[in-house]
Amino acid sequence: MAGRIPSHFIDELLTRVDIVDVIDGRVALKKAGREYTACCPFHNEKTPSFTVSREKQFYHCFGCGAHGSAIGFLMEYEHLGFVEAVEELAGAAGLEVPREAGSAAPSADRGDQDLYELLGRAADYYRQQLRQHPQARQAQDYLKGRGLSGEIAAEFELGFAPPGWDNLSAVLGAKPERLLAAGLVIRKDNGGHYDRFRERIMFPIRDRRGRVVGFGGRIMGGGSEVQGSANAAGARKAGASGPKYLNSPETPVFHKGSELYGLYQARKAVRKLERLVVVEGYMDVVSLAQFGVRNVVATLGTATTTEHLQRLFRVVPQVVFCFDGDRAGREAAWRALENALPVLSEGRQINFMFLPDGEDPDSLVRKEGQAGFERRLENASPFSSYFFETLSRAVDLGSIDGRARLVEQARPLLKRLPQGVFRHMMATRLAEIARLDATALADLTGAPQPMAAPRRSAPPAGTSPVRRAIRLLLQRPQLVENLRELDALQGLELPGVPLLQAMIDLLRARPHLSCGAILEHWRGQEEGRHLARLAQSPVDVPDEGLAVEFADVISHLAALRDEQTLDRLLAKSRLGVLSDEEKHQLKQSLAAKSGGGA
Ligand code: UTP
Ligand code: MN
Repeated sequence: MAGRIPSHFIDELLTRVDIVDVIDGRVALKKAGREYTACCPFHNEKTPSFTVSREKQFYHCFGCGAHGSAIGFLMEYEHLGFVEAVEELAGAAGLEVPREAGSAAPSADRGDQDLYELLGRAADYYRQQLRQHPQARQAQDYLKGRGLSGEIAAEFELGFAPPGWDNLSAVLGAKPERLLAAGLVIRKDNGGHYDRFRERIMFPIRDRRGRVVGFGGRIMGGGSEVQGSANAAGARKAGASGPKYLNSPETPVFHKGSELYGLYQARKAVRKLERLVVVEGYMDVVSLAQFGVRNVVATLGTATTTEHLQRLFRVVPQVVFCFDGDRAGREAAWRALENALPVLSEGRQINFMFLPDGEDPDSLVRKEGQAGFERRLENASPFSSYFFETLSRAVDLGSIDGRARLVEQARPLLKRLPQGVFRHMMATRLAEIARLDATALADLTGAPQPMAAPRRSAPPAGTSPVRRAIRLLLQRPQLVENLRELDALQGLELPGVPLLQAMIDLLRARPHLSCGAILEHWRGQEEGRHLARLAQSPVDVPDEGLAVEFADVISHLAALRDEQTLDRLLAKSRLGVLSDEEKHQLKQSLAAKSGGGA
């Protein structure tokens, strides 16, 4: 295990991020009074029971009981582990996640850190070379010839890998083994190494946390320069060789099957992404971004995998595939469709857009502009149309045989859809097209999965004074500053007092914690679940009454504590086992009591 993340960092992180922004970027929230609401992303519903409180930094669904802090939301919504969720939030807030010293990170983990660091420095170097290298002019001309602006090149951090077989080891001061592990050099048969990327335009690939994990490198020349492009042929003659695009190989930190070029930039550019467009090329992403189409990602020279889609659906509910209109494009589209089946459940949508012959997204957006391209996106075929049209094209729907063939081909595909409403609808549509009784497709239509049983468990009445004090503190943690008697609860024996005392101690040290941040201190513990239940039912006291209410509850508890102490002392005195100090205490208590009663 890497060193623990210190709890003060979690506190700080949760004061820096706003849960409303975190959730609103993923689920459209509507303001309703002091809170925000939406249809719950964790269960199916038509009317909103999901609420988010900015004040409490806490979300809660009255329908299914889901609840938690911004960290908890990311964990559930993006299926992340705790550490991953913290790292994601921290990345977005521009914070580095510290680790406690002591527990040593395993070598693999340290090794990965090392690779990220190396790749980051390589990206810096390539970018710098695009400005400084004696041959940088040629690279700049190439980019200009492709119509890219300086701003967009800077935003995507484009770089230039200069000529030469052995630049990196000197520049980065790293051992060849590390460079090899990072995918930056290639090993020769004789055991030596040489730089993988030479004389190429470099596209750094960042993962969703913004770390450079790999590169794509394009030769300067060949391919689809816009008209009037500068010396492309010259560039080719100058010695660039090999394939048009060269990508980093698979490494411990780079997996083509799950990484997407441009996802990091898209999430940064658009506060609330609603859909993402998947294209084939690096240049397409950059060029579309320059024209204002910012929600675009590219696969890295591979087909779109189920993992890619899973990643995309964690960010947006709709994915539009953009393919060439040619045969290869249609094949790629069908492969993407097949890979999408396992993750297509209700609420998720994929569409297919085919480009006119001879165009790619880059060339098209230059001709038609943002509006033209976006109009095409709007008109992209929904999954179901594309699915049935493609399958129907291959058979004669006018004949029984043809319709039987259609069912035969569709059935195994639809079986790969998750059980549920969407699959049911697709099966019903298949029955319609094949003019079949729906019962013949019972294996597909089988009753949709029952919705997850509501987890609603009525919060405890919350009438005991201890619970009431806790709820008040969850509502307004700063109330702790009104506590004058520091030991008001000392010696009080009631259920929940240790937890209340621990909260008070925590808030004394860190009075600016939100409700969500307080809950994080008891993550995974019974106390945490108890606190979350209490947090879900706000106290029915207007804001301006909270302080008085809290003071009342605390003095009530202090009085209870005094009674308990007195009872204990009296019982002991009856047994004749009081110490001198206790005798003194008893005398004082009795005096106070009669004084108070007078
Ligand atoms: P294209 O050849 O369609 O390139 O490859 P493009 O994006 O239009 O490139 P330009 O406009 O000529 O610069 C699409 C994608 O396929 C992968 C790359 O990821 C590229 O972006 N590819 C292509 C390779 O990995 N290697 C190649 O040699 C070519
Ligand atoms: Mn192109």
